[in-house]
Amino acid sequence: MNHLSNSDQLIVAVSKGRILKDALPLLAKVGVTPLEDPGVSRKLILETTDPAIRLVVVRASDVPTYVEYGAADVGVAGKDTLLEYEGDGYYEPLDLKIARCRLMVAGPVAPGAPPARLRVATKYEHITRRWYAEQGVQVEVIKLYGSMELAPLVGLADRIVDLVDTGNTLKANGLAPLEHLCDISSRLIVNKASMKTKHARVTALIGALAEAVGESSPWSNP
Ligand code: ATP
Ligand code: PRP
Repeated sequence: MNHLSNSDQLIVAVSKGRILKDALPLLAKVGVTPLEDPGVSRKLILETTDPAIRLVVVRASDVPTYVEYGAADVGVAGKDTLLEYEGDGYYEPLDLKIARCRLMVAGPVAPGAPPARLRVATKYEHITRRWYAEQGVQVEVIKLYGSMELAPLVGLADRIVDLVDTGNTLKANGLAPLEHLCDISSRLIVNKASMKTKHARVTALIGALAEAVGESSPWSNP
């Protein structure tokens, strides 16, 4: 396989959109700023002000895949994405406390009589199955890739499992939060082999980011 990284460089995978927007100021605090604006550039591998660190910009749900397979040494991914991802080939050493929201079950403000078997629309198929299995409730899970809030409005589902921040999207669509699955924020994840082979560089980055987010870490400077 043609790895991008070599022993002197760290590849950091970040997703375009919300997480990148929140991650860039954090990375800047530790001296890592892309040399081109990732919002404008069409390049997917970006050099940064730290010659030892390159950013790769990928889809949010692909970040754990890049890190598990070692195509990136480090990644920034939402806890929702990590809970949904089935692999475990990475460490999760740090909560970056960015892109915070909640994963919730939601449904119509004024629901009709519940059907014998609830239909639940979500992009988080595995999390949803685990959640209802834990409660011993049989549901039909309908996999969607976005705009979950539409599903109850058009009779596709009785409930959704989706992210909620301000609650504005639910409210605008006549939906209400019903059950809280978990709090979400973005996490730093690290490829298991990179943690060994690039230990000094990886731990220096974890320590610097931990300090930047006000967390103590085994690798923070005293
Ligand atoms: P993909 O491209 O893989 O489908 P996506 O379109 O869901 O991902 P974003 O909408 O940018 O990508 O969301 C990325 C991450 O940002 C989510 O996984 C979650 O951790 C966080 N997030 C999503 N919505 C919110 C929100 N409303 N408030 C705060 N954080 C959020
Ligand atoms: C996310 C999530 C909700 C919305 C919740 O969608 O899927 O739809 O944010 O935020 P709120 O509670 O503050 O309204 P996003 O805006 O990322 O759009 P997309 O995932 O459908 O692209």
